[in-house]
Amino acid sequence: MSGLYGRIQQPWRRSSITFDLSRLVLCVAVITSILCIGGIVWIRRLTGGLQRVPNDPFDNTFASYLQGRTSHSIWHEDYQSFIHNAIPVPIHSHNDYSHRMPLFEALGSGCVSVEADVHLYRSELYVGHKTARRREASTLRAMYLEPLKRMIDAQNTDITDGDWKGIFNHAPKQTIILLIDHKTSGPETLAELQAQLQPLRDLNYLTYWNGTHRVMGPLTIVATGNAPFSSILALNSTHRDIFFDTPLAHLPSIHDDYSTSTPSYTYNISNSYLASTPWHLLRTHPYPIYDNQLPQPLTASDTDIFASQLDQAKPRGLVTRYWDVPRKPENIREIAWRELVGRGVGLLNMDDMGVVRARARGWGRVVVDQN
Ligand SMILES: *[C@@H]1O[C@H](CO)[C@@H](O)[C@H](O)[C@H]1NC(C)=O
Ligand SMILES: *[C@@H]1O[C@H](CO)[C@@H](O)[C@H](O)[C@H]1NC(C)=O
Ligand SMILES: *[C@@H]1O[C@H](CO)[C@@H](O)[C@H](O)[C@H]1NC(C)=O
Repeated sequence: MSGLYGRIQQPWRRSSITFDLSRLVLCVAVITSILCIGGIVWIRRLTGGLQRVPNDPFDNTFASYLQGRTSHSIWHEDYQSFIHNAIPVPIHSHNDYSHRMPLFEALGSGCVSVEADVHLYRSELYVGHKTARRREASTLRAMYLEPLKRMIDAQNTDITDGDWKGIFNHAPKQTIILLIDHKTSGPETLAELQAQLQPLRDLNYLTYWNGTHRVMGPLTIVATGNAPFSSILALNSTHRDIFFDTPLAHLPSIHDDYSTSTPSYTYNISNSYLASTPWHLLRTHPYPIYDNQLPQPLTASDTDIFASQLDQAKPRGLVTRYWDVPRKPENIREIAWRELVGRGVGLLNMDDMGVVRARARGWGRVVVDQN
């Protein structure tokens, strides 16, 4: 009897096990799917970044003004006060010409440094990343040199004694850095730039090296990309007003001379202004030095070579700049910025001006007629 019972019961038992198993598999599948979807949502949130900020005064003020207008043709004198009232922040507006309002948005967000890629074509400099559109409106002159001149003019109408006032009212001695990335052949492009700067040079708006000192002005021109260091050195040595963007990851040079009490460096304030490197070559700490590997005490040369990038730039009088700083996910970006700014980095490259306004709090206030 028990044998028969067992034989009858067994298929039932097996099927109930099968039933339980399939339910379990279903449960696991559902839970896994929910976790996956949750994970995807979370990752999207992380990588989404803070592209546009709710109630951003810049967007509130200019959104309607922007409609139907393009790039720098929207320039409007009434809104200059927005720029002059911005709080300057140590941010470099990367690929600035690609923004909705080139130059204006960067300065209005408080950036003290902007970048334009230039292409030389038939004695004209056109602004653009790969190939610049050869239109009158996209020349370096129209997009940057002339608007900057107008802005500096507006700040210096009643200053006569050779003094100057910069673009930001909150930091009148803050210079604006215009980083010109030479996309075409270096020496020729630099020569054209040198010629186009003449109106600003005549007004004494440019920072320059006078042979013994660097004399600051409201605008500092820095050349990068194909611009050769030798061409910068070949500029007038008693009035040099284009400076080099040095490689921060390779600052010490074999031509540096440590034999004097204040060493003489190849890259110094007479020829360079910025020292830049991508984020992945960042070194904010000195190299670890092990006791028996080097003579003690260290020579001036060793101390310099093993120093952190920030400590190498300092005695050379250069402003450090990091580019390709992580943008996403948002939390990594914020940690990277805080860490770098906390360590005294000169400039950080940014593409998203909305984030600069939200995080750096550099935006201006519009003081247009309220009638
Ligand atoms: C260069 O600038 C410094 C500081 O402003 C000044 O003392 C010096 O006389 C200037 N040199 C020349 C040659 O103009
Ligand atoms: C260099 O600059 C000085 C001062 O502005 C000027 O007097 C001199 O003529 C310039 N030299 C050349 C070769 O352009
Ligand atoms: C600055 O650099 C130039 C060119 O590399 C060099 O001739 C000059 O001696 C340096 N000046 C100082 C003060 O280090």
